[in-house]
Amino acid sequence: MYYADEVIEEVRSRNDIVDVIGSYINLKHKGNSHTACCPFHHEKTPSFHVSREKQMYHCFGCGVGGNVFTFLMEHENFTFPEALEALAERAGYDLPKQEMSAQAKKQADARSKIKDMNKLSAAYFHYLLKTEHGEKALRYLKNRGLSDETITKFGLGYSDVYSDDLFKYLKSKGYKDDELKDAGLVKFDEKYGFSDCFKNRVMFPIIDMNNRVIGFGGRVMGDYKPKYLNTQDTLVFDKSRNLYGLNLAKKSRRKGIIFCEGYMDVISMHQAGFDNAVASLGTALTVGQVNLVKRFTDRAYLAYDSDDAGTKAALRALEIMREFELPARVISLKPYKDPDELIQAEGPEGMEKRIDEAKSGIMFEIEILAHNYNQEDPQERTEFQQEAAKRLSLITDPMERKNYVDSVAKQYDIDKDSLKEAVTHYGITGAAKVDASVFQEKKRKSPEEEKEQQMLKSERLLISWMINEPSLFDKLQSEISPDDFFEPVYHDVVQALFEQYQRDGKLVPASIINHYQSKEEHEKVSAIMQQDFDMEIPDGEKSKVITDLVKTIKLRSIEHQMKITKGDLVKQNELITAKIHAGKLVIKI
Ligand code: GTP
Ligand code: MN
Repeated sequence: MYYADEVIEEVRSRNDIVDVIGSYINLKHKGNSHTACCPFHHEKTPSFHVSREKQMYHCFGCGVGGNVFTFLMEHENFTFPEALEALAERAGYDLPKQEMSAQAKKQADARSKIKDMNKLSAAYFHYLLKTEHGEKALRYLKNRGLSDETITKFGLGYSDVYSDDLFKYLKSKGYKDDELKDAGLVKFDEKYGFSDCFKNRVMFPIIDMNNRVIGFGGRVMGDYKPKYLNTQDTLVFDKSRNLYGLNLAKKSRRKGIIFCEGYMDVISMHQAGFDNAVASLGTALTVGQVNLVKRFTDRAYLAYDSDDAGTKAALRALEIMREFELPARVISLKPYKDPDELIQAEGPEGMEKRIDEAKSGIMFEIEILAHNYNQEDPQERTEFQQEAAKRLSLITDPMERKNYVDSVAKQYDIDKDSLKEAVTHYGITGAAKVDASVFQEKKRKSPEEEKEQQMLKSERLLISWMINEPSLFDKLQSEISPDDFFEPVYHDVVQALFEQYQRDGKLVPASIINHYQSKEEHEKVSAIMQQDFDMEIPDGEKSKVITDLVKTIKLRSIEHQMKITKGDLVKQNELITAKIHAGKLVIKI
């Protein structure tokens, strides 16, 4: 932990979890819980719960859980210090400066240095573009139809033909060889020494959502290979979690976000007024990018290249978007290759029209499917219809499904009733979903494993009961101790709960999670904390149930201690007494 516990707890308590999570996802208020469909896995019915009382969240579907820090770590892919800093800032709380550990400080310094180097380089490239060195590059961009305003807006630049001018420039600013290498700006070769990564290319700085330059794309001005070079992954450049143009697109007033394939497409789109366009950074679309975009919009458009590769990429992107429930439409660019070419040919009006006519993802998929089968051949036509029905069976909303069935039946001249029947059939059998788990052999548990699971369950149950009814502590203190809990994480949690209760007379479950670092631990702890103790135990039976629980845990603990203290007669005698006492235990609540 890099910050003192009190600081962490202060920041946590100043950020109400319902408010924080509510600013990312739409929470519905229900009883004393706030629920939503889990942002961390795909689901139709909400099993993600946030509790204001406990200041924790937990998903009963996939098991994620934690407090306000872990949420940001998961959702934003923040490290713990980053989550802490973001939440401190949100609450207007000044973090003490010298709190970071030496190692964390080194990392933070390295990141900030890379961003500084990138910023200097971007300014340098942009400057070169305006000098006579960059004449050819500027002409290239102008020839491609870019205005001065656009060139400035995207900070476009030029990397010189010299092999080490940037290297020398940054060295003169005081940066060291290794720092320049770690920034992905220069490379080292045994024979030639240090040289610039980008030479004689038009430069596209890649800017993140905080308006920092995190990397570059560089394009050759001609037909050489590789056409584009991108910065390698660095401490600040993660291609899977950033999108080109999102810093601008997130402020757009236009509906939805338009995904393109290339940097030039994005620039061309923005120049034509479609300032909601973004592109991946030279890789296929990732889950991280879809999640990122979901924070700003509830609709995606795909404006991928109209060639086979583009179609394939679009199908894959649709799959991810469906999984993360981002409704998507596909823009047809035909006969043009990409958005840039379409705009060159038809202007903004042409693009606007294409956007209006964009097909829903499903209709696009079925259209592609239709092309893969020979519709004149009865056998193939049947196969096509079956595949289409499978696809339609994936639509969960009944109304939407019916509408699509109607459209598909009409468009492909299929009998509506048989299509509907097939869709229902595939919906019920789930044939469209290939669940990998069915291929896995189910392992049977041994009796020991069963017993172990049962014990864990008892421990968990008792803890969640104690959290829900802190007055139990008074009754249990003399009967059970943290050491009686076997599972190490549970043991620590109970210890922390006892300490809290003895010190403050109350429990703050969310603060306990601060002690844990790993995701597994967070999930384990939050699962017990968040478990609403809603077992329908009639009041008259509660005393018996809790007595049994405590007895089970206590006896198992005594048994274990007897095993490990064999030979120590004094200890064994004590334990026998304890065992008799536990056997007669009665707790009244
Ligand atoms: P222009 O030819 O300049 O119009 O490029 P474009 O924007 O149409 O790009 P294209 O459709 O050829 O490629 C789409 C994106 O893929 C580019 O913006 C790059 O991010 C990436 N890309 C293209 N070619 C290469 C390459 O040779 N290497 C790498 N790493 N990425 C590439
Ligand atoms: Mn292009």
